[in-house]
Amino acid sequence: MVQAKLANLNSILEENLIGVRVVKAFVREKSEISRYTTLNGELLAVNIQTVKVLRNLFPFLFLLSNLISLAVIGFGGAEVISNRFSLGELIAFNSYLVFILQPVLQIGFAAGVIAQAAASAKRVYEIIDAKIDIYNHPNAIVLNASDIKGEIKFEHVDFRYPGSTTEILKNISFEVKSGEFIAIVGMTGSGKSTIANLIPRFYDVTSGVVQIDGYDVRDLKLESLRSQVATVFQDATLFSGTIHENIAYGLPDASSEQIIEAAKIAQIHDFISTLPDGYNTIVGERGIGLSGGQKQRVAIARTVLTDFQILILDDATSAVDAKTGSLILESLEKLRQARQCTIIAIAQRISSIRNADKILLIDKGEIVAQGKHGELLETSSLYAAILDSQIKQSQPIISQIA
Ligand SMILES: Nc1ncnc2c1ncn2[C@@H]1O[C@H](COP(=O)(O)OP(=O)(O)O)[C@@H](O)[C@H]1O
Ligand SMILES: [Mg+2]
Repeated sequence: MVQAKLANLNSILEENLIGVRVVKAFVREKSEISRYTTLNGELLAVNIQTVKVLRNLFPFLFLLSNLISLAVIGFGGAEVISNRFSLGELIAFNSYLVFILQPVLQIGFAAGVIAQAAASAKRVYEIIDAKIDIYNHPNAIVLNASDIKGEIKFEHVDFRYPGSTTEILKNISFEVKSGEFIAIVGMTGSGKSTIANLIPRFYDVTSGVVQIDGYDVRDLKLESLRSQVATVFQDATLFSGTIHENIAYGLPDASSEQIIEAAKIAQIHDFISTLPDGYNTIVGERGIGLSGGQKQRVAIARTVLTDFQILILDDATSAVDAKTGSLILESLEKLRQARQCTIIAIAQRISSIRNADKILLIDKGEIVAQGKHGELLETSSLYAAILDSQIKQSQPIISQIA
């Protein structure tokens, strides 16, 4: 109970420290303090209960051991006096008894610690023993960087998240040729990120097949698959360290020129140059804070630096302004032509992906339309409606789209 309460208290503490701004913004300090105090009180209560048990246990153990000595000396003494037993034998017997009693007492003292360790071990083993769903199959195929072409094929893919009963993706089929630029658009929650997660095999399909270069991704060696499929996530997680180290995360030996080139593609070089320490500026907990859009651009630079054949951008420029966003896509477009790699961009702003070779429109887990921008405008009323709402939202973009 002590361990469980301590874990509860720690998770509240962690939530409050990470979400301190939300707590302040909603003026919830008082209720958070009382939530913490209540749990802290519960922890104190079970701790005191434990101490009380020990307090009662130890005097009892000592009393028991002393009573035993008393019985031994009383009974044994009488036997010695009546010459049925020698004094030496009594002393020896008593010494053996102490040898036995001492460890028993020690176990009594350790009982609390043992129980606590057992409770902790149970919680640790819950994590260690968690079933791993995604693993290398025996005889998994290694995808060589020099051979991979970057073709992607989804065949009748259905998908449910583990432990969930709702189908998130239904009968998804599409094909991407090597070197193509594909865009996925759709409302939030329609399943775009889920499609992206199936390509580097963060999850396995429920039915159907995801193929890369004709191989089922489940037959490929995970390391070789994931080093060829680079993903930029929407919520860019940076590590504490310098900007240089963060960009070089996937390629620690990268030269400064390579890092600067990647930063230029991600449109973040100019900003980094204005910092007093430039690329050696420390970010993260002990350094400066970056805005959401700056973090996203560092994350793009970090990914661009690696040697991939398939690049997935999952809403990777959502926090970047529209103009910078299209500059990034333009430089990625050049990169695609130079490297002949495949790009899949998940985007909110249709304006930024209207040049894609193919656009997939997802609605409620299904592909409801696919084709080029012009085709979709004519064939899909949903596509036209989404575009229309975006034009109304930001008038200046009209000129770009038209
Ligand atoms: N890890 C998860 N476990 C269970 N359901 C999830 C998980 N991630 C996403 N979902 C659900 O899957 C659906 C599609 O999510 P997602 O692919 O992230 O949408 P999108 O990227 O299009 O906004 C949503 O309804 C969401 O609630
Ligand atoms: Mg998403």
